Amino acid sequence: MSTSAEIRILTTPQELFAAAAEEVVRAANEAVAARGRFTIALSGGSTPKALFNLLATNARTTLPWERMFFFWSDERHVPPDHPDSNYRMANEAMLSKVPVPAGNVFRIAAENPDAVAAAATYEQTLRKFYQLSEGIPRFDLILLGMGPDAHTASLFPGTKGLHEKARLVIANWVEKLKTHRLSFTFPVLNAARCVAFLVSGTDKAAALKSVLEENVPGEQCPAKMVQPSDGKLIWFLDRAAASALATQS
Ligand code: 6PG
Repeated sequence: MSTSAEIRILTTPQELFAAAAEEVVRAANEAVAARGRFTIALSGGSTPKALFNLLATNARTTLPWERMFFFWSDERHVPPDHPDSNYRMANEAMLSKVPVPAGNVFRIAAENPDAVAAAATYEQTLRKFYQLSEGIPRFDLILLGMGPDAHTASLFPGTKGLHEKARLVIANWVEKLKTHRLSFTFPVLNAARCVAFLVSGTDKAAALKSVLEENVPGEQCPAKMVQPSDGKLIWFLDRAAASALATQS
């Protein structure tokens, strides 16, 4: 585990989300002051919903929404109104409730039945936004979750996407789910100024111990492969998720 990782163990999920919200506000205001804008990639799944709700209520007046630009680090291969859509969750929990211009929100067009084309389209969206014909875009903040199998974004153990070094966005076939998932690749994750994991609940405890304390190959433990080359890595954990760690504070 990178020695530069900051591990923050909060007593309850509520405290975890409050701490994560503070980090989003800090990072956003710092980025806007330094570069005039804040670029963030949202994670999916269920954990971040409480954070998004918090940002839409408690941080409604402290965030520079009109200077914030929203992307997704991964998406399910479903339309934007599907119950499983990461975009739908973020839109309902936050984006539809705050004054962010519609043009600042870049969802993955996962309704495209051709997942490979959807990934390529999103890659072009990133390149156009960052005005980068090649190279890796640098997000100010990427939020990530982690599954009980230590997957992150849609980079699952044993999948081809773990080894992608050239593309920014891929359609990753996940055999155990029998579906493609659209995902940032590790080069994008590891180029970020800051990556913040939000991990809550005892069902993540064993995977978290593998990631943070055990010498397990990245192929089996993808979250371990998130190692920003020139950026911060923060783990926001609650006591339940951290319950198997030797370094439990
Ligand atoms: C997704 C995610 C995925 C998620 C983990 C944790 O699209 O599902 O991006 O990586 O963060 O599976 O999901 P939970 O927060 O629901 O436990």
